[in-house]
Amino acid sequence: MADSTKIRVGFIGFGYWGPNLARNIARHPEAQLAFICDVDESNRKRAAMQYPGVRVTENSSSILADDEIDAVVIATSAGTHDFLVKAALIAGKHVLVTKPVSTTSTSARSMTALAACNKRTLLVDHTFLYSNAVESLKEILDSGVLGKPLYYDATRTGLGIIKNDVDVIADLAVHDMAIVDFLFDESPATVSAVSAASIPGQLPSLAYVNFNYSSGFHVHMAANWISPIKQRKIIIAGSEQMLCWDDAQLNNTLCVYNSGVFESLEPVVVGRAPLNYRSGEPRPVELLTKEALASEVDDFIASIRENRQPRSDGNSATRVMQMAEAADLSARQGGKPINLNW
Ligand SMILES: NC(=O)c1ccc[n+]([C@@H]2O[C@H](COP(=O)([O-])OP(=O)(O)OC[C@H]3O[C@@H](n4cnc5c(N)ncnc54)[C@H](O)[C@@H]3O)[C@@H](O)[C@H]2O)c1
Repeated sequence: MADSTKIRVGFIGFGYWGPNLARNIARHPEAQLAFICDVDESNRKRAAMQYPGVRVTENSSSILADDEIDAVVIATSAGTHDFLVKAALIAGKHVLVTKPVSTTSTSARSMTALAACNKRTLLVDHTFLYSNAVESLKEILDSGVLGKPLYYDATRTGLGIIKNDVDVIADLAVHDMAIVDFLFDESPATVSAVSAASIPGQLPSLAYVNFNYSSGFHVHMAANWISPIKQRKIIIAGSEQMLCWDDAQLNNTLCVYNSGVFESLEPVVVGRAPLNYRSGEPRPVELLTKEALASEVDDFIASIRENRQPRSDGNSATRVMQMAEAADLSARQGGKPINLNW
């Protein structure tokens, strides 16, 4: 039976990632998972087995037409987002949509404007923005202990599912674009990227993306869906200290190093830059263990209740999409630098 005090949520897309979001909606005390839709029959059967009291449909318009549904989670492939998100917002639903928000920044911008116009919450599932580790990275950077940020270097590899509507930049490197957008106040000035379709006839599955900033700060991300090794590593170097977050490790995933490179007052040795080096031991940072998607669903429900923007809102997702789109354009032109016009 519907509980009128809870936010009733309809769910569209119960494939690989959707069930993780559905689980967090279902266990939220102020939300009720009320309706699940998937065009695939086996996924509908799985949904019905997992959530026996929840209605299941193959047609998303049944959810959008249901006045009892307050909010919709859309966990389908990127190519379907523009139509589904806009239809849900027009139907008056609050929306949580998986990343990437869409396939173009124009679409992301119009979704964001539509949400604002209809006074609905739009949250984009840039999951890492809600992870304990990224929250710690933000605290460390904002505290100033690293000094002036010099660079952000990320590696994401593994044997991943290659999509046919977005390439590895919009699918995988986009995680780092969202993290960088969240962590640093400055926006990149230019991007230069190369990518390759390792499987002929498919979209690029590996990419190396470089963002340059006016201040001299630099961001590099390597993303590869065809690798025998799962790597999830971010290094951020500052003028005073450095850190490494290795999310593929079991323990001590985030460590700060009291390491740095400084101008030397000693006489210059021929052939060496006049610099001194300090190499520090890793200092592990204790992380909380709350699931990122639980924090994300908390933010979605609270944003609806409090009529405020979520952390991962349409504007930040649009900026991320602009970064991905510019990187893709550069890669299509053999790495030509592309200006980012904010
Ligand atoms: N944040 C993360 O770490 C993370 C990880 C994996 C996937 N994702 C994102 O989640 C989304 C889904 O990815 P996935 O790997 O679960 O894909 P998937 O193909 O496994 O699941 C998508 C599901 O949506 C269903 N579907 C498609 N169009 C539909 C429609 N119009 N109406 C109803 N159902 C429809 C499909 O039948 C399928 O079951 C993508 O946006 C992806 O980028 C995010």
